[in-house]
Amino acid sequence: MNIILRLKEFYLLEMFQLTLYESQLSSIQNEYIEHAYERMVELERHHVDFYKKILNQFGEDVPKVFGGLTSLAGHFLGGFTLDLTTAENRYKLGIAVENKAIEMYRVFIMETWEYPEIRKRAFHNMVDEEFHLLWYKDNLKHVTSLTQST
Ligand SMILES: [Fe+2]
Ligand SMILES: [Fe+2]
Repeated sequence: MNIILRLKEFYLLEMFQLTLYESQLSSIQNEYIEHAYERMVELERHHVDFYKKILNQFGEDVPKVFGGLTSLAGHFLGGFTLDLTTAENRYKLGIAVENKAIEMYRVFIMETWEYPEIRKRAFHNMVDEEFHLLWYKDNLKHVTSLTQST
């Protein structure tokens, strides 16, 4: 495992989550949902900042993000279409992104036993992603039951 390459990969993974949730903030019309997104954005920014800090400690720059959100989505989610027009689609995308992040963190945690600080943060970040995943799943249930009852 090349730790620098892995840290860069996780920087991009966190940038993906940050940019994705930030891009949705303006389209949210419900005050509660807006605050939930704001809080998620805040946490994803902490995740991004950690990788930036640790890469700088290794004397490395953060990788450049080419092509913005669409290229990040292509990189991490393959064929998943970026359709953010309905709450249902936004939550489904959130679920896909967070599942991918959790899966990547599980592998990363096994690889980083030689780096206790990084490993601890990987655990913490993964737990944050698990909370996000549960929030999206729960809110998806609410929107789908709303559409079905109307
Ligand atoms: Fe994150
Ligand atoms: Fe997340």
